Amino acid sequence: LSLPTIVQELAASGVQEPPRQYVRRPACVRLDAAVDMPEPIPDVDLTRLSTDADEAAKLRTALQTWGLFTVTGHGIEDSLMENVMKASRGFFHQPLEEKQKCSNLKDGKHFQVEGYGSDQVKFQDQKMDWSDRLHLKVEPESERNFANWPTKPESFRDVLLEYASRIKVIKHAILAAMARILELDEDHFLSQFGEKAPVTVRINHYVPCARPDVVLGFKPHSDDGVLATLLVDNDLVALQVLRDGIWYNVPTTPNTILINIGDFMEIMSNGMFKSPVHRVVANVEKERTSLAMFYGLDAEKVIEPASDQLNQPAQYKKLKTKDYMAGFYKHFARGTRVIDSIKII
Ligand code: SIN
Ligand code: FE2
Repeated sequence: LSLPTIVQELAASGVQEPPRQYVRRPACVRLDAAVDMPEPIPDVDLTRLSTDADEAAKLRTALQTWGLFTVTGHGIEDSLMENVMKASRGFFHQPLEEKQKCSNLKDGKHFQVEGYGSDQVKFQDQKMDWSDRLHLKVEPESERNFANWPTKPESFRDVLLEYASRIKVIKHAILAAMARILELDEDHFLSQFGEKAPVTVRINHYVPCARPDVVLGFKPHSDDGVLATLLVDNDLVALQVLRDGIWYNVPTTPNTILINIGDFMEIMSNGMFKSPVHRVVANVEKERTSLAMFYGLDAEKVIEPASDQLNQPAQYKKLKTKDYMAGFYKHFARGTRVIDSIKII
């Protein structure tokens, strides 16, 4: 299997036609037929979520339809969001040698999830994404390995840790509200997180591509984990969500926190909440950087539907987090979903 290339380098070398391993045929993106979401993304005000039934109803609708929504009233200053995106973009704007210091290929060949580079090539003819990324483990603190973290830009580490600590408040409020919506104990979802629950960050850097009709910035997938938060550095139309077979553009704007739920929440809510399938399309002109933060569960934790509490038959088989994760990257590379393999039909 060939080693992946750094897409930013490829683009800088001036290639017009993307190399074969990036090209998807038949053309995967109908640029002339972009479909905007028929309604604005639901926006949930955290200051009202626990007291205002309308706000909770808005969240419920979001969770049962698009699986994504934005949040306000979280108290995170615009300046912190700007700084975290500035440091993220700054990382990718450095010379290759600097970035390679946190390469995800150890000794130039052994892939590990954490670090800078592209996805692992899992099989022959795998289609690669038109983007590079930096993947870091933020929690548990005992597994935080600063050797894999950039030392430049200098602000990177502090600003990312500050953002990660502030965003916990959002996760807490949203998970408590999700439990209330399903009339479960308020701590039903929060109590799933143990000592070793991972928080990971994936910073994606998308460079322009002359053929956005045949490449993808990020392949179709739904996220692992309970939920994910997303920040972006500009308002390019790039993120799309799949619903009833149609790809809809998801408008994203700087300083706005977008949340989507992940597969673990779809399982735990017994399918009441949908983990959305999403992808990122490429762009001819501009680059884009995004930062996603994922909340996972302890490796030994059994993920199971709250079917008894909900008085419903279970829609998914239960499984351990580590067994889900073992299947995840294989499915991910192929553009399929672990969750489809554990559905009870
Ligand atoms: C992701 O799915 O993590 C990337 C989303 C984006 O870059 O908009
Ligand atoms: Fe994602």
